[in-house]
Order: sequence, then structure tokens, then C-alpha cells
Amino acid sequence: MDSFELNKIMGAVLGTCLALLSLNIAAGAIFSTHAPAKPGYEVAVKEEAKPGAPGQAAPAADEPLPVRFASADVGRGETSAKKCAACHTFGKGEPNRVGPNLYGVVGRPKASEAGFNYSAGMKGQKGNWTPEDLDHFLLNPKAAVPGTSMSFAGIPRGKERADLITFLNSHSDKPVDLPKQAAQAPKAN
Ligand code: HEC
Repeated sequence: MDSFELNKIMGAVLGTCLALLSLNIAAGAIFSTHAPAKPGYEVAVKEEAKPGAPGQAAPAADEPLPVRFASADVGRGETSAKKCAACHTFGKGEPNRVGPNLYGVVGRPKASEAGFNYSAGMKGQKGNWTPEDLDHFLLNPKAAVPGTSMSFAGIPRGKERADLITFLNSHSDKPVDLPKQAAQAPKAN
């Protein structure tokens, strides 16, 4: 193949490219496309009326604590307590870690574990750790006890909290009577 022939081939390739390019430009001018304001497909669905902020799924309301206690399980609570074990011990006489030892915490006065340096927020809490208070605290520690030094996001599932409190109550010299109530108990009349 001599260089003249090669030139012809190159010219043909280039020419085709140019032709395609101009076609593209011409087509672009004729069929103008415009980018949508919002990328993605628009799917029209009827929005269900939901309580709470729009676009945010409302959290399922928890059953009352006694109903949750009625079906709570110590074994599941023990599994769940692994989330706490990085900071807490549960056995009698075990040391405080990042958080205080939790043996007998159900029913004990708040911020009362000897030798543990509680936050001012926790020290300001009054009364004992009732099952209800623990349920509230474990849902969202920072909201329940402003200023707490417990860096834990909380346990959103009500049933899991009931399992956990049942487990905590089993690690105690004097477990409290957890209130239990069957779900949807028929009304006495
Ligand atoms: C990242 C560490 C950490 C994790 C994880 C953690 N805690 Fe704590 N917890 C703390 C600290 C620190 C305190 C002390 C808080 C204060 O003084 O404000 C505390 C305090 C508490 C108290 C109050 C105790 C008292 O004597 O008044 C309870 C109850 C408790 N935690 C339960 C739990 C449970 C149950 C879990 C697991 C679901 C858990 N915590 C997970 C660090 C942690």
C-alpha cells in the first residue's frame, strides 16, 4: 500500500467522522432535548395521609410496656445486651467500665453506682430506675437525659427494649415485678 492510498483511507475515515458529527449537530438543532429540572422518573402515586412530617415515615407506635413485657424474652434480651457490653458489665461485683456496672439497675436509684463518675445531667435525675424510665431512656438516651455521657443512639424497637429490661431485671438481688398485661385483653364489663 503506498502512502497515497493510505491518505485516501484516512481521508475517508475522517470524512465519515465529520459527516456524523455534522449530522449530530443538525439533529440536535432540530430535535432539541432539554434536561428535566429534577433528574429521575416521575412516578405519580397517591400519597397516603400520614401523621408526622411529610416524607418521613412515622415510627410505628409501641405497644404499652406491660403488653411488651408479657411477651418479652430474657434470652433475646441477653443478645440485645451485647450492644451495651462495650461499656457496661452486668454481673454482680463486676467493675465499672466506660459506663457503670448495671447489676441490679432496675429499681436502683439513678446515678448511684459507687465509684462511677456520672455526668451532671445524670446526677440531676431524680428517683429510681423504674421499668418505664429505663424504657424511655433506652429509646433515646440523649433526649431522655440531656447532657448524658452515654454515647449510645438508643434502641428504636419497643419489643427489644422490653427484652433488654427483662434481661437487666434478671441480673439483680431483688428483681422488681415487671407489670404484664395480655395484648388486647377483653374489656371487663
Ligand atoms: C458507648 C458506651 C455505652 C454504651 C454502648 C451503653 N452505655 Fe449505658 N452508660 C454509659 C455511660 C458513660 C453512662 C453514664 C451516663 C451519665 O453519667 O450521664 C451510662 C449509663 C447508663 C445507665 C444509667 C445507670 C445508672 O447507674 O444510673 C443505664 C441504665 C444504661 N447506661 C444502660 C445501658 C444499656 C441497657 C445499654 C445497651 C442498650 C447501654 N447503656 C449502652 C455508656 C454506654
